[in-house]
Amino acid sequence: MEHLYQLGKACPPPAAEPERQYYFIERARKLLEEKIQEAGRPLTFCVVTFGCQMNARDSEKLRGILERIGYIKSESEEADLVIYNTCTVRENANLRVYGRLGYLHSLKKKNPHMMIGLCGCMMQEPQVVEKLRKSYRFVDLVFGTHNIYKLAELLVQAMESDAMVIDIWKDTDRIVEDLPVDRKYPFKSGVNIMFGCNNFCSYCIVPYVRGRERSRRPEEILREIRNLAEDGVKEVMLLGQNVNSYGKTLPEPMTFAELLRKTAEIPGIERIRFMTSHPKDLSPELIGAMAETPKVCPHLHLPLQSGSTRILEKMNRRYTKEQYLELTDRIRRAVPDISLTTDIIVGFPGETEEDFQETLDVVERVGFDSAFTFLYSRRTGTPAASMAEQIPEEIMKDRFDRLLDRVQAIARERCARFQGRTEEVLVENINEQDSSLVTGRMGSNLLVHFPGDASLIGSLVPVHLDECRGFYYLGTMAFTQKG
Ligand code: 5AD
Ligand code: SF4
Repeated sequence: MEHLYQLGKACPPPAAEPERQYYFIERARKLLEEKIQEAGRPLTFCVVTFGCQMNARDSEKLRGILERIGYIKSESEEADLVIYNTCTVRENANLRVYGRLGYLHSLKKKNPHMMIGLCGCMMQEPQVVEKLRKSYRFVDLVFGTHNIYKLAELLVQAMESDAMVIDIWKDTDRIVEDLPVDRKYPFKSGVNIMFGCNNFCSYCIVPYVRGRERSRRPEEILREIRNLAEDGVKEVMLLGQNVNSYGKTLPEPMTFAELLRKTAEIPGIERIRFMTSHPKDLSPELIGAMAETPKVCPHLHLPLQSGSTRILEKMNRRYTKEQYLELTDRIRRAVPDISLTTDIIVGFPGETEEDFQETLDVVERVGFDSAFTFLYSRRTGTPAASMAEQIPEEIMKDRFDRLLDRVQAIARERCARFQGRTEEVLVENINEQDSSLVTGRMGSNLLVHFPGDASLIGSLVPVHLDECRGFYYLGTMAFTQKG
């Protein structure tokens, strides 16, 4: 689809999306051309992503719009437009952003063309925006999670004014399709299938900053994936805060399992992943679809959070320790070689040593292939923040270290099970340390390094797994007999 607009007073911005944004892309392009003339050189941008896969995908959308406007992409923050796409799930994510803003300010003092933008989850917190307004006046543009698609329009405003442009929406039911995207990898891509979260786990700020759950229409998702496949994409990751509840709010409801099967029918798509699953909504139908659809990677990320039923209840997770164990058993029976990964929080308010032992017990019994472990972080506005019995830091850290020890030992054992096998690997890049090697990813999500060159990037190749190095493999390409 080509969108071109004549600009001028006689032509006001269209009201409909995405046409309106293409109009503003053209206007931003004109303004940028003037700036380029003034500077006597091309102008660059850099988008820095904090946080999860959803943010990474949003950043690809921001980059797509900025490239269309005419900015040149740069990896360095010494650029003419720097955007931080922020995360606020834990407090240290916020602190990192404030720290780095000081550095950006020093760059801006040296570059009269420089603009600074902030967006993403952290901007959805009113106290953050207040602080920026008061103490970070050098920031040019602030927007949230719901209006990423409006970047061109907001940038025009920021280019035309000296004041800080702030546009934060509390929530939205709007999903704007068909804007430009700049993919990080030509051969794999994230695909948003839903936005927001309705679960309200008591520690989590996400439902407040990402809004209510809404699913994209299946036709739009499948159309996007078909286009991606035509453009050379072999692997898609279906993204949502809680993909297992996909489709419940659609006018014509569709389950996530159905969407998975439909995705697998698209020619050219060879691998399908998805993120994130909630144990309470993971249906037998989905387990069936995973088992019966070879394109679905044998990997499931299933956040546990805690192994204590008492704590799970306080977390509002709506499953028990036994239900989680039973679920992972059922998944392992249906997909025997599956890799299970998880998220665990230690030090939730009221967590006792006994509760912590229950978490260790689940870790031992399930045998996770890897686990992200987090210290509980008190997020203002969440129910857990005002619970009694916040856990002292030394106790939290001690539990964290003990958990990490076990998680890592088990992950090493799990990784070793592939030794000697030949696995299909999607080659992602030249190895950063040794340019005679390439690095690829197995279906289980493990990394493999093996001799090869750039011509292999983006191909699926069989690799013999020679040597387990803890959490990854060294291998050699196995040549299959053709004919
Ligand atoms: N403190 C620590 N970890 C958290 N997570 C979410 N909220 C918090 C918090 N307040 C973790 C959960 C979630 C992952 C994305 O981040 O484990 O699954
Ligand atoms: Fe947060 Fe729970 Fe929603 Fe995940 S499911 S985003 S942990 S509220």
